[in-house]
Amino acid sequence: MKKLCTSLVILLAAASMAFVGCNKKSSVSETSAAPAAGPTALIGLAMPETHVLRWQKDGVSLKAFAEAKGYRAEVAYGDADQSQQNRQVQGFLTQGAKLLIIGNVNDGVNSVVAEAARDKVAVIAYDRLIMGSADYDYYITFDNFKVGQFQGQGIETALNLKSATAASPKNITLFAGSPTDNNSKFFFDGAISVLNPYIKSGVLKVVGPYPETSADAANFTRIATENWQAPIAKTRMENLLSNDARAVTLDAVLAPNDTLARAIIEACLADAKYTGSGKLPVVTGQDAEFDSALSIKNGQQYMTVFKDTTKLAEAAIILADQILKGQTPNIPGASLASGSLTSIGDTGKKVVKAYLLEPVIVTKDNISVPVNAKFYTDAESAQLK
Ligand code: GAL
Repeated sequence: MKKLCTSLVILLAAASMAFVGCNKKSSVSETSAAPAAGPTALIGLAMPETHVLRWQKDGVSLKAFAEAKGYRAEVAYGDADQSQQNRQVQGFLTQGAKLLIIGNVNDGVNSVVAEAARDKVAVIAYDRLIMGSADYDYYITFDNFKVGQFQGQGIETALNLKSATAASPKNITLFAGSPTDNNSKFFFDGAISVLNPYIKSGVLKVVGPYPETSADAANFTRIATENWQAPIAKTRMENLLSNDARAVTLDAVLAPNDTLARAIIEACLADAKYTGSGKLPVVTGQDAEFDSALSIKNGQQYMTVFKDTTKLAEAAIILADQILKGQTPNIPGASLASGSLTSIGDTGKKVVKAYLLEPVIVTKDNISVPVNAKFYTDAESAQLK
């Protein structure tokens, strides 16, 4: 009996060795023959938040495009908490992700980008530049300076600034996006580059803090909105209406995105000065969120900027696929930033390759653009026709 048990243990041991061996052989053949990442390679998708709706769309689109190319893909949302996002990214690395696409919350992401670099895992900064890191090479976004220019041009057009005079100046107050989001500086600088000449000539008067550019850190911080939180913007607008803007009528508010635009409009509608048709200030935005598209159609918000995140997600996955296959990136619909735009990829430690997609300004006159791009559900689109 004892002899039988011993031979069984040897058999089992031999079998398990054979299994490990063959497993080893297959892993060896896999490593040597397969490209850097086999077709079932995992791509980790780390999105910053969900309270700004566009990021929910980004996550869904990125996963769908990655899987359509034969990759495994996993999405995680950081809820505007960088340490939470870092844990999610470390989870992707532990699962052996071959590439990460990260829309970060703030620069705290750098520690896990460094971990990815150590593991030879490529990172693409998605829509938001990862500042202060030299551990990655690619960034894909929209021309964010142009997004801001569209916001400035929206105010210029709506207030007819080209024919306004300093004899009867228009009043504007300024909001910026999250101070931890590098995009906020590009949005603001694009917008204020259009508005500064009117401010200098006295045609436009700024109520509240006025940074001439985002480089004026003290004043920029005073108009910035932590983590793009709508309640913060609403409270700041309420304070402006009862203090700095109490004795004037605001003709425009520079709002950096739709979530904040709607919060600012809510605050205005609670002030008798701005209730009644046509009494609201001109309020800008971006992201073409459905609720804002409806608000624009109903004559409340003035404009938004359509950044087709479906196209951004598709372009990001094309870039990811080309990186994983060791190909030189060539992305239809996205141009490599060059000339004065090169700085859009300057992390402060390295200038990464930035691929830019084109944004589109949307007002009441061309709401059909995001509708025709199937950016909304059928039910939502029906309400916008
Ligand atoms: C920015 C992004 C904008 C807007 C904002 C709020 O980084 O470019 O489209 O969504 O975040 O999340």
